[in-house]
Amino acid sequence: MLVQLSQSISEAVSVLQKCCTDEGLSHPNPDQNFSEESDSFRSNIEASKAADKIVAASSQLIALLQAPSLSLLRAACGHITSAALRVCLELSVVEILGDAGSDGLHVTKIAQRSGIVPDKLGRLLRYLSNQHIFSQVAPDTYANNRISTILHSKKSVKQLLESSDQKHDGSMEQSFPSLIELFASDLHLSSGYLTEYLKDPVMGNSEEPNHAPFNKAFQVDVSLFDWYNQPEQAARLRRFLTAMQGTDRLQADDGLLKAIEWAELPSGSIIVDVGGGWGNASLPVAVQNPHLRFVIQDKVDLVAAGQAAWETQLGQPVSSDRVSFQVHNFFASQPITGASIFILKHVLHAFSNSYAVKILKNLRAAAAPSSQLLIIDSIIPPFCSVQDNESPFLEYDPVAEMVYISDLTMMLQLNAKERTLSELEYILEISGWKVANIPPRHYNNLLTPVVAIPV
Ligand SMILES: C[S@@+](CC[C@H](N)C(=O)[O-])C[C@H]1O[C@@H](n2cnc3c(N)ncnc32)[C@H](O)[C@@H]1O
Repeated sequence: MLVQLSQSISEAVSVLQKCCTDEGLSHPNPDQNFSEESDSFRSNIEASKAADKIVAASSQLIALLQAPSLSLLRAACGHITSAALRVCLELSVVEILGDAGSDGLHVTKIAQRSGIVPDKLGRLLRYLSNQHIFSQVAPDTYANNRISTILHSKKSVKQLLESSDQKHDGSMEQSFPSLIELFASDLHLSSGYLTEYLKDPVMGNSEEPNHAPFNKAFQVDVSLFDWYNQPEQAARLRRFLTAMQGTDRLQADDGLLKAIEWAELPSGSIIVDVGGGWGNASLPVAVQNPHLRFVIQDKVDLVAAGQAAWETQLGQPVSSDRVSFQVHNFFASQPITGASIFILKHVLHAFSNSYAVKILKNLRAAAAPSSQLLIIDSIIPPFCSVQDNESPFLEYDPVAEMVYISDLTMMLQLNAKERTLSELEYILEISGWKVANIPPRHYNNLLTPVVAIPV
């Protein structure tokens, strides 16, 4: 097994190198920080698959050779990694190290700028560096590396210190750090209550959105979204909406631009982005299709913030006949009837079946026979852990890993779930819709667009 696994790694390394040489692409170099250029091999499917094979075989080697006791200890201490990452994000450690460059900075100086006791910060950085997040370049001296650099917000330390509550500003640069901060803070806390939640005879059996581990952890009675809607949670809401854009870092593209023939829709066609937040889903479509009109609906009043986010990203003012923001609760009847396209991106996965069906039925009642419903969520891939005889190692599917994380995130925060295709087809069918098209998904893409039409 050891020899087979190491041979598989060697073969896949040869494939990766050949693809890079033939196509003029690069693969990561440990001394280089992450950039689109450093990881350009991912644009080539064969190279990308070879890299996944190397990761699969290497993890299997680790599982085989590492003492089981250490494997379990590392798994059970994931919360320490998460907590240490949160410290680095909230106290601008990545930006401080960004200023220091590749020579790095002694922990006393990092601590001075971030306001933490040097000994305690040093112990966190030592732990993270041992996991390849940050590098220890000299004794007690740390530098960013290819993993930690993607947590850089592209803001200066001064900016972050002066306006920490404005940090999550909806910019693309901030979006991935916001996503990781969200996981390492609120989600971390919710996950600590999972066992109590599952043992609770009421909450553990419930379909209600306010019966999630989050509700136990934060001691609130309302659902996560209703909580975000409270004025005192404004900063959390901004972080959440910024983080939603950060999911783009986890995938090649969300398939939305190719899911519908947007350019073929008649001029003035109305696209309704239901539960659209700031309109992250619609924005790229709008950029390429000035002939379409967009209505971004959300329960939260995001009119001013949404407009500002679009203007920042488009670099120009947007007129209300091109895009309008509307406060609308998708559990009430849909005010826009006969739209060309209704978009539901990252919405259905945030609700249990009985609530998802209510949303779908309201859209069905407002649909014209020609309306289409574009659902963009992850679809849980068929699970298969069976090894074939030819291959000594288990397939590693990075998409499955991300979808499982997303599925459990939905359980932790909203008592909701990601669905398999047949689970999605079931809730569509009982709501008067049917799947019309599932455009091919890009390899390694987390999200699967599904186009449904009225039955
Ligand atoms: C996960 S976010 C997705 C946002 C956006 N579609 C995207 O992909 O970036 C879900 C959104 O649904 C909104 N939402 C939650 N409950 C709602 C309701 N009852 N009616 C309308 N919007 C709601 C939230 O405020 C949030 O902006």
